[in-house]
Amino acid sequence: MKIHTYEKLWLVAAMVLIVGFIATITYGSVALGITMVGDQEDTIEPGELGEDERFDDPRVEQVGENEYEAYVIAQTFIFQPDPIEVPENSEVTFYVTARDVIHSFSVVGTNTNTMAIPGEISTMTVEFDEPDEYGIVCNEYCGSGHHNMEGELHVLPEDEFDLTELSVEADDEVALEDDDEVTLEIAVENGQLEDLETTIEAEIGDETVTEDVTVEGDSTYETTISVDAADLGEGDHDWSVTVDDYEESGTVTVVDQLEDETEDDGGDDDE
Ligand code: CUA
Repeated sequence: MKIHTYEKLWLVAAMVLIVGFIATITYGSVALGITMVGDQEDTIEPGELGEDERFDDPRVEQVGENEYEAYVIAQTFIFQPDPIEVPENSEVTFYVTARDVIHSFSVVGTNTNTMAIPGEISTMTVEFDEPDEYGIVCNEYCGSGHHNMEGELHVLPEDEFDLTELSVEADDEVALEDDDEVTLEIAVENGQLEDLETTIEAEIGDETVTEDVTVEGDSTYETTISVDAADLGEGDHDWSVTVDDYEESGTVTVVDQLEDETEDDGGDDDE
């Protein structure tokens, strides 16, 4: 059988196209690190995210010198945490799950994009070289607020990035008659692996107390600062606690006697 030269050429061209298509599809589905959600991670009960140590507190964690892990929850119609903050020159592995319905986690302008499915944990490792700000959007229709579901990802310069958390507990009211003290219970959490050397500065009324501290990596330093209520005198006193760029503040009232001990004979507002 004789096949015409042109027919041969067309046959070869068709074969090349078919092989080319298959190669393209294969490349596009596996070669760029693209995987199916749920391939690498076990499933998780979406109603019990609060009891899972990774997702009970959505956050960024340092796991190596320049390595971080971000635990992200998508739910109607927010992402947690928001913003997600990571440092430049870092490698971040995102663990993303959904609390209610199917969402997605798409970092605008990048190929960082995954579905967020209740019960499944999507993982992606991304390198961030330069400081930048990205938007995060949901591109799976998830309800009436879908078009407003957005978050932010901040890649910060190294000197602006930390994983410090300051929390302060203080009384609202302190009584002179009990010889009470105004106390600030201060906790400084250092989520980074390196030690944090810093100064806690507390002001209560006119009193200032400073304390130089070293908070070890991945730990919390707790301290209590107190001032005699008698030194402050009756009235409202502002307090504030600062650690690096973080500040907590409030007001404590020093009274002669605590009200609930003297209120009994008031009785005006019984009804
Ligand atoms: Cu969440 Cu659309």
